[in-house]
Amino acid sequence: MFFVPEIIEKKRNGGKLSGEEIRYLIEGYVRGEIPDYQVSAFLMAVYFRGMDEEETTELTMAMARSGEMVDLSAIEGVKVDKHSSGGIADTTTLVLLPLAASAGVKIAKLSGRGLGHTGGTIDKLESIPGFRTELSKDEFVRIVNEAGAAITGQSKDLVPADKKLYALRDVTATVDSIPLIAASIMSKKIAGGADRIVLDVKFGGGAFMKRYEDALELARIMVNIGKLAGRQTVAYVTDMDQPLGLAIGNGIEVIEAAETLKGRGHKDLLNLCLELGSEMMLLAGVEKDKEKARKKLLENIRSGKALEKFKEIVRRQGGDPDALEDYSLLPRARFSRGVEAREDGCIEKIDALRLGLTAMKLGAGRQKKDDAIDHSVGIWLCGKVGDGVEKGKPLAVIYANDEEKLQWAAEEVRGAFRITREKVETRRVIRARVTAENIEEF
Ligand code: URA
Ligand code: CA
Repeated sequence: MFFVPEIIEKKRNGGKLSGEEIRYLIEGYVRGEIPDYQVSAFLMAVYFRGMDEEETTELTMAMARSGEMVDLSAIEGVKVDKHSSGGIADTTTLVLLPLAASAGVKIAKLSGRGLGHTGGTIDKLESIPGFRTELSKDEFVRIVNEAGAAITGQSKDLVPADKKLYALRDVTATVDSIPLIAASIMSKKIAGGADRIVLDVKFGGGAFMKRYEDALELARIMVNIGKLAGRQTVAYVTDMDQPLGLAIGNGIEVIEAAETLKGRGHKDLLNLCLELGSEMMLLAGVEKDKEKARKKLLENIRSGKALEKFKEIVRRQGGDPDALEDYSLLPRARFSRGVEAREDGCIEKIDALRLGLTAMKLGAGRQKKDDAIDHSVGIWLCGKVGDGVEKGKPLAVIYANDEEKLQWAAEEVRGAFRITREKVETRRVIRARVTAENIEEF
């Protein structure tokens, strides 16, 4: 028998918890037998004392098993999942789903909605008229089998322990703990049923992890949890100190994804998609050579095959594929304005978090869980760090449905750019690749 205060005390004193103790706590909490105040104290103890990899894996598995463990065995072949720890202008999933599927990778993607300054892929896709993100299990399996990829909202019963714990962490200042984040993310990936996992762990001003070293540590732990759980995992550590692509919003990110699949995307977004996509091809076993995989993906963009795959997925999920050609079929904001540079120079820094929060307050994201989203609003950047700017030329264009908010947002966006007279280097996006055997830093 366990006694909760003893478990808390053990962790408070820096001890190592057994799998039984961790399971006892998580199972009791999910059943409502252990109260929030005890789990709050436990979370704070973990925040200060940490957990080793074994404890973190036990926590992950206890959480994963707290609800439905999705069985994807009805889908033929190796299923690969991709997860991003959340960023600004991060349209990667929208591009990767059709791109990797066009090269033969099977992707059964369960996705959450966005909260705070980072948008959720499901919210973005719902900009497309008719697109359904609540698929039945049978539809989901059928579309992945036939089209190679499908995306659906997470069922309420996927990792209930994470829903309860995350809500508690949010109000007890225990969100930014590496073992708690690792267990939160990996429990959902493992319960989601994929065989192999590619993680994009972001760091910088627009990410959960502000420091590269912390993101690398989080990546390393998640890769090892994946290995211990029998789900081969590869993680990339990537820069989120400035937005990844150029579009921040929902409808406009669908446009950016379509443009990228037409070969007109920003090179940073394209490169990351090629890197993650070729990694997914290797994990799925559809290609052995990374360079060849990358070439195949580029070829599928050039030939239009990747865009056709995006249209096919949209059509099969009830959406209007014409919206990927005729963008006027996507929700349109009533007002737009450019934010002009006040001097000539070079972009030295772009505050991704400030832009993300501004887009959220324009209506592109949720401040609270039940807020409605405005799919038409957002911010389209005209350049990134290292690009030149000219006095009177726009730094960004804002789309809004409220004139007052439009004026307010213009000041925020201007404040998010730092311009210098000096020449500035562009920022590298991909900084590390982490496997269970190796860490490569770039
Ligand atoms: N994303 C998650 O899913 N969980 C966390 O704890 C942090 C980021
Ligand atoms: Ca995302």
